[in-house]
Amino acid sequence: MSLRLPDSGAETDAEGRRHAPSAVRNAAPILALLHEVLPPEGRMLELASGTGQHARAFSDGLPGWHWQPTDLNPDNLTSIRAWSAGQDRIAPPRVLDAGRPGWQAGLGCFDAALVVNLLHLITDTQAAAVLAGLAAVAPRLVIYGPFLRDGQTTSSGDEAFHASLRAQDPAIGYKDVHWVAGQLRLHGHDLQLHEMPANNLALVTFTV
Ligand SMILES: C[S@@+](CC[C@H](N)C(=O)[O-])C[C@H]1O[C@@H](n2cnc3c(N)ncnc32)[C@H](O)[C@@H]1O
Repeated sequence: MSLRLPDSGAETDAEGRRHAPSAVRNAAPILALLHEVLPPEGRMLELASGTGQHARAFSDGLPGWHWQPTDLNPDNLTSIRAWSAGQDRIAPPRVLDAGRPGWQAGLGCFDAALVVNLLHLITDTQAAAVLAGLAAVAPRLVIYGPFLRDGQTTSSGDEAFHASLRAQDPAIGYKDVHWVAGQLRLHGHDLQLHEMPANNLALVTFTV
């Protein structure tokens, strides 16, 4: 099902790169966080890479890191490839449904994995599969997005967005941060919360 999302008006430029305003807005704060929590080098798996803007911005900003972008939607791979042009530390993008249990089989291991703005768009069952797979492929995870805290949204804009997602599909919507932490703990990951702009959170985990 294709969701109606605010701020989804990505424009495509002459090189085939899609430009999503939200990815432009959150790139700098997420990159600053990655600098803080990642070692100087490694291999990153990114789920739900979308346009590919983040893969490019973050691999440019983290010169010791090799990037594997992925997305459920094969149509996104064109833009991801276009954003990757000239950056040889970005591997060819792969189609990957991270909501399918066992998606991580055969992918190998990574030093870290990143997912930005996915969990609120999928069901609890799919989110549990995302988190189980992430915990299995990498010892460090960075999970960014909007979350419920003690079952509540944290602003009127978040309340409206969560309600609009639920209206489109009652099984999706914001996940509670405690639920996400519990899922990750089941898989041996301990979590730190980082407050991010616009009421978002980055959940940073380490295996214990
Ligand atoms: C709101 S966009 C976020 C894209 C990008 N991470 C960003 O922040 O700009 C959500 C992305 O999740 C992808 N997606 C949705 N369901 C998915 C799934 N089950 N597995 C992997 N990606 C998925 C969509 O194709 C879309 O690219």
